[in-house]
Amino acid sequence: MAVLVTGGTGYIGSHTVVELLEAGEDVIVIDNFFNSKPWVLNAIQDITGKGFGFYEGDVADKDMLRRIFKDCFIEEVIHFAGYKAVGESVQKPVMYYRNNIDTTLALLEVMEEFGCRRLVFSSSATVYGIPKKVPVTEGSPLSAINPYGSTKLMIENMCRELCHADDRWSVALLRYFNPIGAHESGKIGEDPNGIPNNLMPIILNVVSGKTPILSVYGNDYPTPDGTCIRDYIHVVDLAKGHLAAIKAVRRDTGAMEFNLGTGKGYSVLDIINAFEKVNGVKVPYVITGRRAGDAAQCYSDPSKANKELEWKAEKDIEQMCRDAWNFLQQHQR
Ligand code: WQD
Repeated sequence: MAVLVTGGTGYIGSHTVVELLEAGEDVIVIDNFFNSKPWVLNAIQDITGKGFGFYEGDVADKDMLRRIFKDCFIEEVIHFAGYKAVGESVQKPVMYYRNNIDTTLALLEVMEEFGCRRLVFSSSATVYGIPKKVPVTEGSPLSAINPYGSTKLMIENMCRELCHADDRWSVALLRYFNPIGAHESGKIGEDPNGIPNNLMPIILNVVSGKTPILSVYGNDYPTPDGTCIRDYIHVVDLAKGHLAAIKAVRRDTGAMEFNLGTGKGYSVLDIINAFEKVNGVKVPYVITGRRAGDAAQCYSDPSKANKELEWKAEKDIEQMCRDAWNFLQQHQR
């Protein structure tokens, strides 16, 4: 019996594979290395001392999926594989729909063929659009404000409708807030291909000299220091949330939505200050104009996940910054 992890060499996927293996689960990974690199496979093995199955390929390839389900007794699937760059999705919406929806439809169809009806899906706080009220609960209004967010919301709806049509299905829809940091070993972390979009990888590029200065996108928001507030969560806490979700889909049926966040909001300047404090480095920055689509504040009410998944984020912002820096130092190129 195994858990299939699509996109399992990616940032959140790899950290989740580590937690699954350390919890004694058998794991099979499928990945096409679109936004990750093969060295992650060895790093996972180094951290855990455990083996796992790996198939290189695209989740949209149903014959590949069928081969995996025939070779291995897959009981649950955690579905990470998908494009995730908000800005790129605005430029290339069709590519995002084609990839994110196709992969998911192929996966759901093959899961049904093999009677595997337990899924944990990598959703996102982006399904809340620009929240009118914070903290955000799972009952907050849903609205997609970019093609990336539209694909996440569309997949959530597909899963809700599937569970409504067939009550043998169990689907946990995990809405991530802002994952940052890295495994304490420094052997895996956020290592996106191409130009990063998110705050922490850009800070790492600045302190490593790849990028001359950090642009802080606006300091005229209605927040204490004028910069945007987000719910940053340590990627290991997020990974543990997936283990808790696997237990939930084994126990319950139906579609279940969960906010995976800390419930605390930190501004961009808070992150810069924390990073500088714990790592003893300077993060040069300049205030620039706002970035289109940014919400002034977005942070979670994670009480539903705390209660129903018996899961709670434990690591603080300083640990997130320390672990992010530690990963960079071990992988400086
Ligand atoms: C965080 C804050 C920026 C870069 C996105 C996706 C979301 C999820 C997480 C996948 C914002 C500010 C950033 C920079 C800056 N991804 N910033 N200068 O936009 O909250 O969420 O990533 O699920 O779906 O929407 O994250 O890291 O891009 O930005 O000032 O160079 O940092 O304005 O306030 P975001 P982010």
